[in-house]
Amino acid sequence: MNPPTIDAAVWVVLADYEARAEREEELWDTLGPEEAERRIDEMLLPVGRATGTLLNLLAKEAGARRILEVGSSFGYSTVWLAEAARTVHGKLISLELKAAKTEYATGQLARAGLADFVEFRIGDALASLAELPGPFDLVLVDLWKNLYVPVFEALRRKLAPGALVIADNMIEPASARPHAQAYRHAVRLAPDMTSVLLPVGNGIELSRYQ
Ligand SMILES: C[S@@+](CC[C@H](N)C(=O)[O-])C[C@H]1O[C@@H](n2cnc3c(N)ncnc32)[C@H](O)[C@@H]1O
Repeated sequence: MNPPTIDAAVWVVLADYEARAEREEELWDTLGPEEAERRIDEMLLPVGRATGTLLNLLAKEAGARRILEVGSSFGYSTVWLAEAARTVHGKLISLELKAAKTEYATGQLARAGLADFVEFRIGDALASLAELPGPFDLVLVDLWKNLYVPVFEALRRKLAPGALVIADNMIEPASARPHAQAYRHAVRLAPDMTSVLLPVGNGIELSRYQ
């Protein structure tokens, strides 16, 4: 049974994303490495149901009213975060490089009845971050993995006391592990962060700023 706090319009949209993700996973398995790389921007690459649920409940439990998403893709995790933003009377800012993905995500958020709770910014996340003063109460880091460390460095000065930072793909895919390890190392070196690796979905690093 779905938790009663999330309304039917949201579940319909999430189910559509999850059906598309399943089809894409099947297709992905048939692609060679070069074609997979060439077609990467066709894919949702979503955080998945477990991580989406965790993001949603963490944002609600923390009462995170100023939420930032770095890497919206086609909007799957955006829906989970925007639903939490609506519940806590907050707002989500979501950053994405590719305009076509944001266009699709905008339509999906509207279908879910969540358009009023999200502001998309198209362009390089580091450039967008430079223009955002913060502070943020909760941040999802889920863009290309070589950018996790620079994004974390840019974010640090913009976190509210007690802010949560969640980084995806810490365990899977294996190809991301060197970047994931560099990110975890950087977070653990920061004296003002407390951090734990959770085997949820693709593996997430959950960190708290104090
Ligand atoms: C793994 S996907 C995000 C998946 C999304 N969070 C979800 O769960 O549905 C990573 C996204 O980061 C975006 N991205 C990569 N580099 C970026 C950059 N420099 N600035 C903004 N977005 C970027 C990619 O275009 C891609 O859509």
